[in-house]
Amino acid sequence: MITLNYTNCLSEKVQHHGVTKQELTTWEKKFVDIHRKIVQKSQNESLMLGWVKLPYENPEVEKILKMVHQVKPKFDTLLVLGIGGSALGNIALQTALRDKFWNSLSKQQRKGFLKLYVFDNIDPDTAKSLLQHIDIKKTLINVISKAGDTAETLSTFFIFYSHLVKKVGKTNAKKHIIITTGPKTGFLRDLVNKGYSQYDFTIPENVGGRFSVLSPVGLVSAALSGINIKSLLAGAKNMAEYCKVNTEKLTLVQMYENPAFMFALINYLLYQKGKHICVMMPYSDRLYGIADWFRQLWAESLGKEKDNDGNIVNFGPTPVKSLGVTDQHSQLQLYREGPYDKIIVILSVEKFSSTIKIPKFPEEHYLCGHTLNELFKSEEKATVVSLTQANRPNLTITLPKIDEESVGELIYMLELATAYAGELFNIDAFNQPGVVLGKNYTYALLGRKGYEKYLKELSLLE
Ligand code: PA5
Repeated sequence: MITLNYTNCLSEKVQHHGVTKQELTTWEKKFVDIHRKIVQKSQNESLMLGWVKLPYENPEVEKILKMVHQVKPKFDTLLVLGIGGSALGNIALQTALRDKFWNSLSKQQRKGFLKLYVFDNIDPDTAKSLLQHIDIKKTLINVISKAGDTAETLSTFFIFYSHLVKKVGKTNAKKHIIITTGPKTGFLRDLVNKGYSQYDFTIPENVGGRFSVLSPVGLVSAALSGINIKSLLAGAKNMAEYCKVNTEKLTLVQMYENPAFMFALINYLLYQKGKHICVMMPYSDRLYGIADWFRQLWAESLGKEKDNDGNIVNFGPTPVKSLGVTDQHSQLQLYREGPYDKIIVILSVEKFSSTIKIPKFPEEHYLCGHTLNELFKSEEKATVVSLTQANRPNLTITLPKIDEESVGELIYMLELATAYAGELFNIDAFNQPGVVLGKNYTYALLGRKGYEKYLKELSLLE
């Protein structure tokens, strides 16, 4: 399983910039209550903790696998249209679990699975490139929006739909469309009801965007590009089981054995000590997408104006993504010698899928005979030691290797850590009023009915 090592966040390693054992001890008993609160909340269908159950009950999985079997021979490319939680998980899974040049491989090399493009912005230049580059006749479009109304997603969908209709006709267009949306309302739900799509998948009402990667939001594109979604869910389940509290045999050490809680607690205690920035730094190109996905999870869940009691707190750690070793030559100088305002989270991989030897060179050189793997590991160690030596708290999450199981474990661990962090900070980790307000202002500016009051607010601010 993946492991968490937080030793370098303790005061014995990083002096007063770290957490004392005493500070940790005070949470040993409270931990069980916090854990119970989350379990209780997850049993209340009206709260947004439906993601807790996804590793156990995922009603759309068999339907997704059946769909993959049917469409694989007919299509070559999948285009995902979505934004935020409806895109970042898809990118993270693809980056971690598929070849870096997946889209350049032949269909045979891809074992018949589809190329994947995720368009999660509305940049007209990118839209034009995609329109020119993709052979729409061989493309499936998966439009994803939980609300079903998001302006960015709908506008790009209309553009690609119109392109599709021009090339294949209105009747055939339907065969190219997969809609993934919320169960009840929204424009996309209406389109499903009107028969616009060949396949549709439902995002459970109580699973929010940034917690939806293990729902059809992330699973459809993963399965269509050949990722084993059952193993991914099995990994998430491993972690969920591992983090369960044994109520029959309550021991104080349980807290220390729960990596999700310890991740949240260390971040919480360090935030109190002014470490307001959380840098996630994978030593793996393949995990960079996970760092980006985590950036949304941590920021949107924990950045809040008010606490649960209605007090204005303007709270929130700032997540930053960084890449080892590349950013050793860019950011590390700041992390080691700049302000004492950061906690660094290293994502480490024990065994890479490949081993590349640095070959002999006509001139003698110390690097020759080593492997890139050794060099990578040495640089990671150098970073950890140099940060610790400078009293910069850092923790390491180690994956034995990058596969579906370990990525599933990591995703679930970080989701659960976010829920724990919400409880620790006494804020609602599952709402996003700031994002909703931005959406409402956009609707108002573009003339959507029912949003006139926002137009008034906008004109008052001008
Ligand atoms: O986490 C969230 O709720 C958001 O980031 C959403 O995922 C994002 O705004 C997209 O929303 P939707 O899927 O409803 O289009």
